[in-house]
Amino acid sequence: MPAITKTDAWTALQAHRDKIAGRHLRDLLAEGLDSRLCVDLDGLHADLTRNRLDADGLDLLLALAGAAEVETWRARMYAGEKINTTEDNAVRHVALRDHGGIADAGIADAIAATLSAMRNFTETLRAGPTTDVVNIGIGGSHLGPMLATTALASAAPSDKDGPAVHYVANVDGTELATLLDGLDPATTCFLVASKTFTTQETMANAASARDWAAAALGADAVAGHFVAITANPVAARSFGIPDGRMFELQASVGGRYSLWSAVGLSTAVAIGWPAFQDLLDGAHAMDLHFRDAPADRNLPVLMALLGIWNTNFLGMEARAVLPYDTRLRYLPDYLQQLEMESNGKAVDRDGQPVTMATSPVIFGAVGTNGQHSFHQQLHQGPRAVACDFIAAARPGRNLAGHHDMLIANMLAQTEALALGSPNATPPERQCPGNRPSNTLLLETLDAKRLGMLIALYEHKVFVEGIIWNINSFDQFGVELGKRVAGGLLTALTDGDAAGIADSTSRALAEQYLAWRKDTP
Ligand code: F6P
Repeated sequence: MPAITKTDAWTALQAHRDKIAGRHLRDLLAEGLDSRLCVDLDGLHADLTRNRLDADGLDLLLALAGAAEVETWRARMYAGEKINTTEDNAVRHVALRDHGGIADAGIADAIAATLSAMRNFTETLRAGPTTDVVNIGIGGSHLGPMLATTALASAAPSDKDGPAVHYVANVDGTELATLLDGLDPATTCFLVASKTFTTQETMANAASARDWAAAALGADAVAGHFVAITANPVAARSFGIPDGRMFELQASVGGRYSLWSAVGLSTAVAIGWPAFQDLLDGAHAMDLHFRDAPADRNLPVLMALLGIWNTNFLGMEARAVLPYDTRLRYLPDYLQQLEMESNGKAVDRDGQPVTMATSPVIFGAVGTNGQHSFHQQLHQGPRAVACDFIAAARPGRNLAGHHDMLIANMLAQTEALALGSPNATPPERQCPGNRPSNTLLLETLDAKRLGMLIALYEHKVFVEGIIWNINSFDQFGVELGKRVAGGLLTALTDGDAAGIADSTSRALAEQYLAWRKDTP
């Protein structure tokens, strides 16, 4: 296959970009909606019309998806082929929520066994006497469960009778120590979630939690108060967690795609098993849509193509994720890992340097807070940023008038970004408009819709990665920093920075050691 930038589809898109460059989004919108850019799926309404694109441009983008063989790659992922070539692994998150025979059956038995064990554990723990569950994990072993628990816990019908669920990720001891201050070791259960069971932050936090529990309950505490969620049972055993308290995480499931696996155990405990099953069902519904819908009605495909258009043809370097729902406040953090760790790559699947931009910078905040901080740049900054707005029609908890106010603000932002106020005076009041956005409106933020929403973004990221011809499922870029930190840690714990080779790191380490020397 030729490089995507050498295909007719790519060249035609460049020409089309130049052809419509002078047309403002205002004019494109006035010409009428392309009905293909509104998609309705069982309580999820997606309006993608506020993009700087016309019908011909959309046709060309769909041709690009064809040229990149998106459908073939999707089939290969679903079939369990080893498309994560650099790690010689399949990509099996779809299999985790598959009860319709759409993914390969390679690990179906293992998944069924894990789900059954998770269900038993969830129901036992929710029956008491455990009062607190602490998930210790980072990255994919943290962000998905924290997003889902925060989004759904208040809606769970029986949330009052389950334990409180907490998350600790950062190696900053302030985080764990502050949490432990409020907990009773006798009624606390720690879930140590780590695919590798070697991640420095997670191992340090787990060891400190073990010390805390053992100091109060004796050395045997670890066996009764710790659970491991991992693909490395050997390491979990040597930490002291018995086999009966281990949940298997399949090696072919990537960390940032693992919410649906045993990594989701903390969420299941928080929301109860029926709601966790609904979360899986929602993701499964999106898996079916992604597999079956024609490309021009396929929401992940359309969102990916618009992402490619904005990034590679309109030159936008960032995308803002703006949930207008406080329950989705961790969605920007979650999507930062999903999108940037998956697609922030500079080498293609053939080991060659990529010749185009890949993942934009993802950032965001919950609405309306962002309006009073960085939206100024979104409206008037010279560099346009594409935005995703996400909201639910039904509020989590409403106080009279609040939800209408919230949604009016969101609609106003999408409109003002698109249309602008070019005639406002004086000039500093002018907003140029022409800023694209997508709006995802959920009927209600329940477990099923959240599962659909997260799986939508997973598949969007997949399609973008296919078009960029990169491996979205490895993350070697994070390794260098870990290795450098290992060497620096030895110097800091020895209290001797003299051997640090890099002069700037050495000087900073010396200053650090001088200041921290009297710290207990
Ligand atoms: O360092 C990056 C990373 O490997 C992520 O991809 C992963 O989600 C996170 O660390 C945690 O890894 P683990 O689950 O193995 O502790």
